[in-house]
Amino acid sequence: MTAADRIAFLSSEINRHSQLYYEEAAPEISDFEFDLLLTELQKLEAENPELAAADSPTNRVGGTISKSFASVAHGVPMLSLANTYSEGELLEFINRVQKTTGEDTAFVAELKWDGVAISLVYEDGLLVRAVTRGDGVRGDDITTNIKTIRNIPLRLPAGVPKYVEVRGEVFMPSTSFAKINDEIAKLNEEKRKEGKKEVLPFANPRNATAGTLKSQDSAVVARRRLACYVYGCMAEGLGSHWEGLEALAAWGFQASPHHRLCKNAGEVWDYISTWEPKRGALPLNTDGVVVKVNSLKQQQDLGATAKAPRWAIAYKYKAEAAESTLLSIEFSVGRTGAVTPVANLRPVQLAGTTVKRASLYNADEIVRLDLHIGDRVLVEKSGEIIPKIIKVFSEERVAGLVPVVFPTQCPACGSVLVRDPEEAANYCPNANHCPPQMLGRLEHFVQRDALYIDGLGTQILAKMLQQIGANGKPLLVTPADIYRLSEADIIGLGEGFGAKTATNLLAAIAASKARPAQFVLYGLGIRFVGETVAQKLLAHFGSFAALAAAQEAELVAVPEIGGRIAASVVAWFGNTENQELIADLAALGLQMEYVAEAVELESEVLAGVSVLVSGVFERHSREALERMIVVHGGKLASGVSAKLSYLLVGDKAGPSKIEKAKKLGVQMIGEEEFLAMLS
Ligand code: IVH
Repeated sequence: MTAADRIAFLSSEINRHSQLYYEEAAPEISDFEFDLLLTELQKLEAENPELAAADSPTNRVGGTISKSFASVAHGVPMLSLANTYSEGELLEFINRVQKTTGEDTAFVAELKWDGVAISLVYEDGLLVRAVTRGDGVRGDDITTNIKTIRNIPLRLPAGVPKYVEVRGEVFMPSTSFAKINDEIAKLNEEKRKEGKKEVLPFANPRNATAGTLKSQDSAVVARRRLACYVYGCMAEGLGSHWEGLEALAAWGFQASPHHRLCKNAGEVWDYISTWEPKRGALPLNTDGVVVKVNSLKQQQDLGATAKAPRWAIAYKYKAEAAESTLLSIEFSVGRTGAVTPVANLRPVQLAGTTVKRASLYNADEIVRLDLHIGDRVLVEKSGEIIPKIIKVFSEERVAGLVPVVFPTQCPACGSVLVRDPEEAANYCPNANHCPPQMLGRLEHFVQRDALYIDGLGTQILAKMLQQIGANGKPLLVTPADIYRLSEADIIGLGEGFGAKTATNLLAAIAASKARPAQFVLYGLGIRFVGETVAQKLLAHFGSFAALAAAQEAELVAVPEIGGRIAASVVAWFGNTENQELIADLAALGLQMEYVAEAVELESEVLAGVSVLVSGVFERHSREALERMIVVHGGKLASGVSAKLSYLLVGDKAGPSKIEKAKKLGVQMIGEEEFLAMLS
């Protein structure tokens, strides 16, 4: 057999097994055997690159790493859908459509999939672009990731129109979702043993899908086994939506299965009621039914509003709910001091899982529901992991039940709680001495995105908070104490803490002293100071000392820093304990001065060139363009001067900058010209 023959054989076998797996849910071979076929094909193609077809199934393996996803405009905007929970409104929609078209109107009813929308563009039969919905007008180009999804054809059969755009929903089948969360649970077990920070499981399959699609490593996407149902086709020669769905199926897509052509409202309603009890058995969540006018001509006549077409509506099923009894309420204190109530319920089966707890959000929610311990309640699960209480059967309440009262004191440290009116949250103000806040603060400080102290996990931190050191005080009170730990302190923690652990931990602690100052600032956990804000503040002020001395007015003068952040920063640095902490951290050798990050150059085409970017651009954000300038060796200028090489001008660029550039003879370029310079 020649290499070409073997490649053809392997490709067709792989495609056949993909189809068995996805479309018929009847695999004949194991994942392992499937991977063997793919690996063999990959090897043959690598040896004979001239034989590798553009639509080869090896495209599905992934492995390309994308630094960032290019933003692209949709040819036709991706609108959203008007939706309703009421049968009456659905009938009104159908009547209105029938009246407007004045003819017989047929509808297509199909299930509404709860995944992530995607647009797939085929040119000359080949998948050339896959773009997320984004804001509806522009989305991210995630073609390499999408190519790993095995029920999306890479090439359409001969004879299809030159340009075809397909729209659909990418999802994670419930079996893959369960598998991933199981893997995360196992990983967390290991992490717990090692005292490392745990990874959060995905809240639901939609989040898992969205997270996976944003992965920069397409091999990760390939492993996660996503799938896609398509529900829309734009191509020449189609007369109706139904024809579009049939064409899609014929071209090898999995068109949204179970759709039905309905002649009238009765048939539409029959479809909706038939699917309501059956939808739980599908491999993905459905949150309703989409009803669409079938004729494309009638669709066009009906048109669209700025947000949604007038020829379609989504009827949403009510979230699944179950009755239970409120057993007790726990109030827990988080890192920021916010006190959140959680309801403990009599266990009840709901949407395939046993529910024992429900979130209650805040004090207002408790008042709104007028909750009493022992109340019969209705809990609803709307796609999220933690369900919520949506109703209390207060009319059935037996005498003597005790109302739930939000505590006035912190359940952990007893401090009087304060209320943040803007956030409807009650806070414990004792940030530096309330145990759960202390633990939260330390966890935040050592995490990967902050000081990154490997090996200092939650359990070890909790133990250290309780351990009394040689000086008679707890080993840890503030983050600075981490840098005062001795070998004896660590070994003194008891079982599991030997000399080797101590050496490793002390090395990790010492290494964290080299972390740049912006990570230290982020690690302090000042309210509203996330990673980006920390970076901006330090880049602007240059050092902790300058930042600590800044007044609110100076802070709000920094681009993108608002009043809320400014007030929080000033309050934090105004606290004497925090001032001591900063002095301690500096004395212990942490980085308190900002050093601009060294960038890894992609090229030096812009060496010696300075560019100022102004305005809004078609293809990239201003920040993205600025990043490109830097990674290609150029310099970012802060103003127009005679020394400036280029003014990169977008829509709504500053008129005074343009004026000045003209006067000084500085060359002005647009986005396309700039991008051309880079290639
Ligand atoms: S048709 C112009 N059909 O729902 C609107 N959308 O709210 C075209 N969705 O993000 C959408 N299943 O991704 C349509 N069978 C279906 C759908 C569906 C899920 C999603 C879609 C969009 C959202 C609209």
